[in-house]
Amino acid sequence: MRTKIVAGNWKMNLNVVESQLLIGELMDALSTFETQAKIIVAPSFVNLPILAVATENTTITLAAQNVHHKEKGAYTGEVSADMLSSLGIDHVIIGHSERRAYYNDTDTVLKEKVSKALEYNMNIIFCVGEQLEDRKTEKHFDVIKKQLEIALFALDAYAYNFITIAYEPVWAIGTGETASPEQAQEMHAYIRSLIAKKHSASLAEDVSILYGGSVKPANAEELFSKPDVDGGLIGGAALKAADFTAIIKAI
Ligand code: 13P
Repeated sequence: MRTKIVAGNWKMNLNVVESQLLIGELMDALSTFETQAKIIVAPSFVNLPILAVATENTTITLAAQNVHHKEKGAYTGEVSADMLSSLGIDHVIIGHSERRAYYNDTDTVLKEKVSKALEYNMNIIFCVGEQLEDRKTEKHFDVIKKQLEIALFALDAYAYNFITIAYEPVWAIGTGETASPEQAQEMHAYIRSLIAKKHSASLAEDVSILYGGSVKPANAEELFSKPDVDGGLIGGAALKAADFTAIIKAI
């Protein structure tokens, strides 16, 4: 049985006071209803320690937004898997399109990040997504296949216990434009079929595949109703407790 997940990627937003306020609002809201979904929140690195304390013994799981691929050393400004682990952080987003676009996170580096995170038994939300141009020229399936092939397909079956995939079409991120539920379903089913081909149908059935890209309270339910959409990776709407809560309720 695969897990339903709603994850909030706070990106480079919210200072330490604002982060604590939002997590408090979220905890209050979550105490008023039951959900089958696993709730993940990914704040910036600097806010992780204090939020780790605040979310202890709650249903909120914290994730880092990135991790370095080397063990340690002269990599100024970077954060290692060991540092995150020592804080009790065991979830990490890897391969977000903003990291790919602005920080040279190539498929090859991402493969190394995945293996470093796995060394530390971290759960990974691995992001893939095509550019608008790729979709217009009908290369979107090939792009996603290549991203998955390079970073993930050499993994053994056991490693998939730690892998969640997030399909985030770049043209839908922060644009207000969403993939239609049909487009999301089509790509998610394709991703699942690739994993089934690489490993087995039963393994593929157990991998959670999230959709990300302008998920809002207004479109969440329809997206989540699709059989291969197991939840969402939420950007902007995760910054408002009411919106994030409404999205969780939609699953
Ligand atoms: P938006 O929900 O703001 O489009 O961001 C999606 C995203 O990038 C989540 O990682």
